[in-house]
Amino acid sequence: MRALIVFFSFDGNTKFIAETVAKTMNADMIELKTSKQYPTEGFRKYLWGGKSVIFGDEPKLINGDIDLNGYETIIIGTPVWAGSYTPPVKSLIARSKIQGKRIALFASHGGGGAEKCFAKLKQALPGNEFIGEIAFAEPKKNPEDSSEKAVRWASELK
Ligand SMILES: Cc1cc2nc3c(=O)[nH]c(=O)nc-3n(C[C@H](O)[C@H](O)[C@H](O)COP(=O)(O)O)c2cc1C
Repeated sequence: MRALIVFFSFDGNTKFIAETVAKTMNADMIELKTSKQYPTEGFRKYLWGGKSVIFGDEPKLINGDIDLNGYETIIIGTPVWAGSYTPPVKSLIARSKIQGKRIALFASHGGGGAEKCFAKLKQALPGNEFIGEIAFAEPKKNPEDSSEKAVRWASELK
């Protein structure tokens, strides 16, 4: 049975890992997209993104209706925002009944917060089996090492 990688990425770091994992596992991949565009520049980006995490926003997704029935293994990827997972991933969890799956988590971060992010994701996804988790510090800055680390991790999940 094929695995599904579902992720959100704002600046491409999480996407870089998602693509590497998808290729290694020969898995399907869905990049979550919001209907409204987040501010992409400077301070506004952090302010708006941070606020949306703190207020528990669940932004509308363009592609949030995902049929998970055909997948036993789901790999969820997110950047760490304000020590948590991103609002589009929150929307996905709220919308899709993710139950009885094997779940692996990965996160991209700027220096910290991945443990907390994983703990919160696990709390939000009861009734599933967690088979792995891994964090990457700004992987696009170190593409070779990061992709090697992602390939190793993904190979173990197969
Ligand atoms: C709104 C916002 C909040 C963030 N909060 C954190 C944080 O709490 N801890 C951290 O290490 N990095 C934080 N970052 C940095 C991102 O996690 C990091 O740059 C990540 O690699 C971005 O992934 P992406 O390129 O897939 O969007 C934050 C970035 C944004 C935009």
